[in-house]
Amino acid sequence: MALKITVIGTGYLGATHAAAMAELGFEVLGLDVVPEKIELLQRGQVPMYEPGLEELLRKHVAGIEGSSGRLRFTTDFAEVAAFGDVHFLCVNTPQKHGEYACDMSYVDSAIASLAPHLHGPALVVGKSTVPVGSADRLAGYLAAHAPAGADAELAWNPEFLREGFAVQDTLRPDRIVVGVRGERAEKLLREVYATPVAAGTPFVVTDFPTAELVKTAANSFLATKISFINAMAEVCEAAGGDVARLAEAIGYDDRIGRKFLRAGIGFGGGCLPKDIRAFMARAGELGADQALTFLREIDSINMRQRGQMVELARQALGGGPFLGKRVAVLGATFKPDSDDVRDSPALNVAGQIHLQGAQVTVYDPKGMANARRLFPTLGYADSAAEAVRGADVVLHLTEWREFRELDPEELGREAGVRVILDGRNALDPEIWRKAGWTYRAMGRPTA
Ligand code: UDX
Repeated sequence: MALKITVIGTGYLGATHAAAMAELGFEVLGLDVVPEKIELLQRGQVPMYEPGLEELLRKHVAGIEGSSGRLRFTTDFAEVAAFGDVHFLCVNTPQKHGEYACDMSYVDSAIASLAPHLHGPALVVGKSTVPVGSADRLAGYLAAHAPAGADAELAWNPEFLREGFAVQDTLRPDRIVVGVRGERAEKLLREVYATPVAAGTPFVVTDFPTAELVKTAANSFLATKISFINAMAEVCEAAGGDVARLAEAIGYDDRIGRKFLRAGIGFGGGCLPKDIRAFMARAGELGADQALTFLREIDSINMRQRGQMVELARQALGGGPFLGKRVAVLGATFKPDSDDVRDSPALNVAGQIHLQGAQVTVYDPKGMANARRLFPTLGYADSAAEAVRGADVVLHLTEWREFRELDPEELGREAGVRVILDGRNALDPEIWRKAGWTYRAMGRPTA
């Protein structure tokens, strides 16, 4: 009989995983402790913007006309325990308030709510990003608190999905990593992932700590790549070089590669910043803090980019105070194709300039509602043209396609002064200059 799957936590990760499991042919029950989220999902609506996710949900959510009916939702842990053979844990692990360490309370409370209902054999599979050592601790907790005892097993299966590509990354991941302690867990997970594995996705079996570390190591590497190129941008600023050409040139070396070498205002979001900090905190607890002190530098290079963007804007306005100046900001989300503004460099820059007295107007294709909630005192506009109206300088801070497709001539008629600062090195300087704009990008003082 086909495996029955549950997904606990229906945020970016969980909602996507649940829909993907239904797409792979399994019966799926999703759980969240927030009833409003469950009500939305039951109607086939997604609580966030993620390309393709709503379509995939509507294809499978029971009760929606024409759907497979394989995907249902609940808020009841007893129902989840009775339903599933494999339980995926997809709750978030944010940064703790005032500390580097990550907050494990959602993971712990999900396990605590599930365990007492596990009366028969079950596999609980953690997907959340956790400090190394958590799987070992949680396996012990499960064995002690589930009525099924040792038959309630744990595995760790980190998730690598990128926001904006969540559906694609979940259905066709570039690798599947499973940390297991026994053959039964591995066999069950091979069954769950049979379709992508048959299509060629590598399946890497490890122990618990390695599986947990793969995720934090991958994100640390990505963060390091971005901060490396941003450090080169700083040197290019000082030396009169061009970081975009530099990235292109070193990227031809396939040991280095072109990806994740776009200099600009740096990384943000709900993962990279908090993951490298939690990794440092955990290494400290393990007595291995020296191994990761470089991540402190990666973090500070990254945070410095935001300040440098503010300085570029100040210079563009003549070098004096921001007071009374009008600044247009294109982009609020931490990356394009997402409505996520968590630790967004764009919003951070907008906020800093606003707090220094400028009149800042922000426009973002999908992030307006979240941005408003987080930073209600900024000005918001319904379009790029409206944001730019009468502005003394325009800041391009999130590389949405919509902004690359703007007509600089048309936009120029709205702007007070034709000066654009590209905080993402994503616009074509030629096109903007042709329309009479002064174009300036980070790490390319002369480009
Ligand atoms: C990341 C990892 O990529 C993913 O594998 C993991 O599961 C979760 O964390 P995500 O947070 O969606 O995914 O964003 P990502 O695409 O990695 O971008 C992170 C940040 O880096 C964004 O703010 C982006 O704008 C920035 N970035 C990316 C750069 O500044 N330069 C680059 O060259 C690439």
